[in-house]
Amino acid sequence: MASNHKLNFVDSELENLKRLNLYRKLRYGKSKGPHIIINNKKLLNLCSNDYLGIHSSQIQINQLQSSSRLVSGNDESYKKLESILAKHKSQQNSLVYPTGYMANLGAISAIAKKKDIILSDELNHASIIESCKLTDSKIIIYKHNDMQDLEKKLKLKVNNKFVITEGIFSMDGDFSSLKQISELSEKQNAITIVDDAHGDFVVGKDGSGTPSYFNVEKKIDLYISSLSKGLGSFGGYVASKNNVIDLCINKSKSFIYTSALPSFLIEYSIKRFKSNREERKKKLERNTRKLIKGLKQIGFEINSTTHIIPIIIGDEKKAIEFGEFLMNRGVFAQPIRYPTVPKNKARLRISVTAWLSDKDIERSLEIFEKAFRKFCN
Ligand SMILES: Cc1ncc(COP(=O)(O)O)c(C=O)c1O
Repeated sequence: MASNHKLNFVDSELENLKRLNLYRKLRYGKSKGPHIIINNKKLLNLCSNDYLGIHSSQIQINQLQSSSRLVSGNDESYKKLESILAKHKSQQNSLVYPTGYMANLGAISAIAKKKDIILSDELNHASIIESCKLTDSKIIIYKHNDMQDLEKKLKLKVNNKFVITEGIFSMDGDFSSLKQISELSEKQNAITIVDDAHGDFVVGKDGSGTPSYFNVEKKIDLYISSLSKGLGSFGGYVASKNNVIDLCINKSKSFIYTSALPSFLIEYSIKRFKSNREERKKKLERNTRKLIKGLKQIGFEINSTTHIIPIIIGDEKKAIEFGEFLMNRGVFAQPIRYPTVPKNKARLRISVTAWLSDKDIERSLEIFEKAFRKFCN
């Protein structure tokens, strides 16, 4: 048997992560409505991204196409979904990618070149950060949602300038200052890109996202989003002008060199889009208000006004213990640690869904109150 010593460094790396309380392990569970079953225990699921909790409909799986879209994987259903998504974003066209992560990689690397600059919010998601690294552009980080800092940095004279931000920040749950960002970008002739993975289908008119919430949808040049969160389906997409979509088809490596999503998932997205999202959206808003109010009454400092509610703990070990305390009492909310968030800013990230009943929320608040007394006093 070959000696394994060449891979000993892997053990040291893992040991190091454990020592720093940054080690992650996979948990297996089965989700059902507002619940998740883990180790035969039924828990209230407070960390699902299926925000609207649209009731599932049966999908039929026909033959899988197993090919990239530019070869033979371009099922007719794509045309229908992409025209729905373009209209949803008031844009000329859209393009579906296998995931939101791949949509970011593909679109940003297709559009930004050498001699361009990309101004990126310091709290942008890992998929945006990695996408920027794929370009030869100069990457400039501006302070989180800090419009003075952005304005100063936007004054640089270069070929093309891109400003990229999330719509609702995935780990803090705050809105980006899209109104000011789009105004500053317009003044400086910069291209505005919004990754609205967490606002899409959930906020704004007809759930059309954060730019619509701020009434600035016409000022956004390129949208990037996920179909796997508010819509509760699977995939990612970009929406923009015809020429940008054409460039993405021709240059996005994460579009060209990978297999297409199977058509049953595309049809599933269409079904979900056409479901009664408005009613679910209202329920989500009600649940969010109720949970935030309850958490504040307990004494937690809550700054979010959206369905993503972080409870900042700070210390990584304490955040793990907090999560376990909740789990042992029937609530599933995962601790989020570095590198997803900065060091010593570990947190419980609660995501509210429309699945939750008033009773579910009251029960979880009782458990949060116990956790508050144990960990926050
Ligand atoms: C802001 C943001 N963009 C993109 C993604 C990636 O989306 P997907 O899960 O569809 O790959 C995520 C996922 O969490 C996200 O939070």
